[in-house]
Amino acid sequence: MVNKIKQICCIGAGYVGGPTMAVIADKCPHINVFVVDKNKDKISQWNNEDTSRLPVYEPGLEKIIKKCRNKNLTFSTEIETCVSTSDMVFISVNTPTKKRGFGAGKASDLKWVEACARQVAQYSKGHTIVVEKSTLPVRTAEVIKNILDIDGKDSKIKNTCTFNVLSNPEFLSEGNAINDLENPDRVLIGGEDKDAIDSLHEIYRNWVSEEKILHTNIWSSELAKLTANAFLAQRISSINSISAICETTGADIREVSRAIGSDSRIGSKFLDAGPGFGGSCFKKDILNLVYLCEFFGLNEVANFWEGVVTLNNWHQSRISELIVKKLYGTLSEKKIIILGFSFKANTNDTRESAAIQICKDLIEEGAQLIIHDPKVEREQIALDLGLEEKKENNAYSDNYDNLGNWTFSNNLETIFNGAHAAVILTEWNEYSFIDWEKESLNMNSPAWVFDSRSLLAPEKLEDSGLNFWRVGDGSEKK
Ligand code: NAD
Ligand code: UGA
Repeated sequence: MVNKIKQICCIGAGYVGGPTMAVIADKCPHINVFVVDKNKDKISQWNNEDTSRLPVYEPGLEKIIKKCRNKNLTFSTEIETCVSTSDMVFISVNTPTKKRGFGAGKASDLKWVEACARQVAQYSKGHTIVVEKSTLPVRTAEVIKNILDIDGKDSKIKNTCTFNVLSNPEFLSEGNAINDLENPDRVLIGGEDKDAIDSLHEIYRNWVSEEKILHTNIWSSELAKLTANAFLAQRISSINSISAICETTGADIREVSRAIGSDSRIGSKFLDAGPGFGGSCFKKDILNLVYLCEFFGLNEVANFWEGVVTLNNWHQSRISELIVKKLYGTLSEKKIIILGFSFKANTNDTRESAAIQICKDLIEEGAQLIIHDPKVEREQIALDLGLEEKKENNAYSDNYDNLGNWTFSNNLETIFNGAHAAVILTEWNEYSFIDWEKESLNMNSPAWVFDSRSLLAPEKLEDSGLNFWRVGDGSEKK
């Protein structure tokens, strides 16, 4: 019999758990939704009266939080209570690449998932449907089932609790999460138990049409998530590789993208050349796939997918190198404006952002970076660069060793004064309104603008006297 779900608990209040549960709460006012996390600071940020200070920035999220929070949506650190009273528990915790031990650098570290499974086994009462929302290696559901069976039996409420495990990977993309959640291309449910599948299906049916809810076996569901990310990332490495050919042959990547994207078999999305893909998942999920392939002896398949990551790393350093080359081979004492630090526009997330490696490269070459981003905080940039922000009058000021450094600025009005170059790394809309003719007068001549996102139309810079480089633009070679 289909279990009518009255209460859901999601473990993990991050970029997926927070927005996903907010949308479920909004679309299902009859369901009580709890989002729990062991990180107390994060939960208090989710509970912040000032909703402009939520831990995740997503267009549209604030509105839903204001509407549902403390009605049928609660953020809490009370993991035990929330799990024990819920009919369905989503696991939405981080699954980063393992840093040490077997599979280090490729395999996913499942320690947070395992810890969750143990918490669920320990605290659950009665029947609980456990839903994998995190992206996981194929056959992780088996591990979760084992833990639930063994730990569940050992717990104080011995033999009284039962479980079903489903896979329900998330396909949202950051910056567009609310729209993706409200209008998904598909919802994927992998599992064996029909009643459990129907219970989850029924939740999504509150706003997703029947034909968009796909059912598969649990392993296909797990593998489909890794495959989707691998295919998407592969398109970006493909177009970035062609951007390099464009620059050396006189072709233009925007024209090539349009021409190939009009073929309905290829499609026009995900063909924008950029500074290299970032985000917390593409690299880790491909490396996870590579690890699985190697584990099963499929070395050619592993090499094929690993190439996507290799190309991405190469492409990022290609951009750093060409900036150095165009600025006469040295960045020492040069002031370079970095426009954008998040891995894409409309998010405050910097995980694996191309800006991190590119900024590190430029600092290594002695540049004095001034970093601007409308949503990323300076403390996050310091963590990502592994370097404190330069303070006036500190040791860096003397700069005898030509050490590079960085400072943060949120003032686009004055940021360009005395700059040798500006580098657009994130496609924030506000950068397309910069008046380059005006700013060229404030910049150090001859100055450069490097546009790794094709945000600027070359005509806008024509009368500025600025040198201009755009990703995949071979016009110098025409
Ligand atoms: P995140 O790091 O933003 O959030 C994970 C949260 O889980 C953290 O706040 C952490 O404190 C919490 N946590 C970890 N272990 C816990 C435990 N035992 N008990 C309570 N809380 C615990 O991660 P994220 O970006 O939300 O990603 C979560 C999963 O979703 C990953 O597997 C990721 O691959 C996948 N995913 C992410 C995205 C995305 O856009 N970020 C999209 C689709 C899928
Ligand atoms: C990606 C997928 O798009 C989601 O479906 C998936 O759920 C998610 O990963 C995940 O599993 O974490 P996300 O990383 O949030 O979402 O953002 P994307 O829009 O995919 O962008 C990823 C990176 O590729 C960004 O750095 C972006 O700037 C870059 N990109 C994207 C390009 O360089 N060109 C493009 O045409 C598209």
